[in-house]
Parts: sequence; C-alpha cells; structure tokens
Amino acid sequence: MRHHPGLSTSWHEGFAARYDEWAAGMTEDVPFYVALAREADGPLVELAVGSGRVAIPVALATGRTVIGIDSSPAMLEQARERTAEAEVELDLREADMRELALDEPAALIYCPARALLHLPTWSDRRRTFERVARSLRPSGRFAWNAFAFDHAIAARLDGLHDDEPVPHTLRYAVGDNRVDITLDSGGTSSLWWATKNEWLGLLDVAGFELEALYGGFDREPFTEDSREYVFVARLR
Ligand SMILES: C[S@@+](CC[C@H](N)C(=O)[O-])C[C@H]1O[C@@H](n2cnc3c(N)ncnc32)[C@H](O)[C@@H]1O
Repeated sequence: MRHHPGLSTSWHEGFAARYDEWAAGMTEDVPFYVALAREADGPLVELAVGSGRVAIPVALATGRTVIGIDSSPAMLEQARERTAEAEVELDLREADMRELALDEPAALIYCPARALLHLPTWSDRRRTFERVARSLRPSGRFAWNAFAFDHAIAARLDGLHDDEPVPHTLRYAVGDNRVDITLDSGGTSSLWWATKNEWLGLLDVAGFELEALYGGFDREPFTEDSREYVFVARLR
C-alpha cells in the first residue's frame, strides 16, 4: 500500500478482501445518496469510495462520472472490477481524504458507510472538513452518515465473536472512543466514534451550515432515540 506521509491510516488491507460480504446487508443508504446526486448540478465526489458500492448506483442513476477517492489500493482494485462489470465510469483516485484537492469545485461531496469514523483524531476530521469546504461550489453540499454511539450495545458486544456477516470480534476501547473490528481471516478496521456536538463543531469551524440532520436514510427526523446521524450541510 502506498504510504501517505505523515498520515496514519486505520484501514487494514486484510479487510478489503471481505468488504463486500461485510457490507452485503447495507443497502438502505444507496437511494438517499442517489437522490442527493440527482439534485446536484456539477461534479460528484465520494470520499472513501471503497469498492464502489454507492458510487456505481450513483453513476448509473445520474449518467455522470463520480470521482471516487480512497487510500486503499485493494479497495480501488475492486471498484475497477465492478465498474467494468457494470459498464459505468468512475474517476478513481488513490488519495487520502485528509488531502482532498480537486481541479474543479464539486456540487456534492458525500461519504457513506460511516467512513469518516476511520479518521483517528478531531484534527484529522477538521482538516478533512476544511478540505471539503474548499473543494465545493458556493451552493455545494456535503453529506455523510455515522453511528450514534450506544453504550448499551457496546457493553453487550465488547469482546464477543460473531460469525455474521463475516467472522469477527468487536472490541470497544472506550477511553479512546474507538471500536476495533478484527476479522478471523486477518485485518482490523478501527472506527473512532463522535458525538453530535463534535459533528456540529466541525461544520462550524469549516464554514458550513447544517441543512438537515436526519435519524435515518428515509429522512426521518433525528430524535434522542436515533442511532444514526445522517447529515447534509451547505457552505455558509
Ligand atoms: C467502510 S469502507 C466504505 C466504502 C464505500 N464508501 C461504501 O460505502 O461501501 C471504508 C473505506 O474508507 C477508506 N479509507 C479509510 N481511511 C481513509 C482515508 N484517510 N482516506 C481515504 N480513504 C480512506 C478505506 O480504504 C475503505 O475503502
């Protein structure tokens, strides 16, 4: 894997081999991101595009090329294979989202599958949000989703092995607000959870205003009981 100087990454290439099996049940986010892409008048960018699970339906639905940024050569290789099968075009770029830079400002930048949680620190996220802000057209939108950390779930699952969807063990490092997903077949993916106020703070410092915070992909209102943050933001 190409090393991105000065930037540590939490994504283990061992995870790439099983990612499609891991994400097989994840489908409800696709129409949400497709709808935002249809509304966007200009370039579309997916951060952490992975195997193209969302970018391919977005490209098919809009008839437009999606720029897909990812730091993992193994995931990008899968995206290349899938785009060839789907006969659709993606502009795939091996890069770290913390170093996002585009030639032309985008109308929509989105980051599905909680992938912003792979960024270990608040300053990694601030840097990413600032890069996104600089890469958008004045009317451009930034959308992403992330889980709301649930201590009851963490207490129940910490240290447990599960065979579904791919054999793995979860570990919660509460002091570091981190979840480690370690596959039996090798490879750990780490996610650093964030609170609602951290997300709102990132929008604030990077010059965004909140357009909507939903509690799910059907645009249901966010409530105290919601377990997913689905954010849509605009430049201020
Ligand atoms: C959970 S997958 C999401 C893939 C895809 N967006 C989807 O919705 O299925 C997370 C992806 O984030 C990528 N990733 C992790 N850290 C990254 C970073 N700093 N910059 C770019 N990509 C990163 C990984 O390589 C992996 O492909």
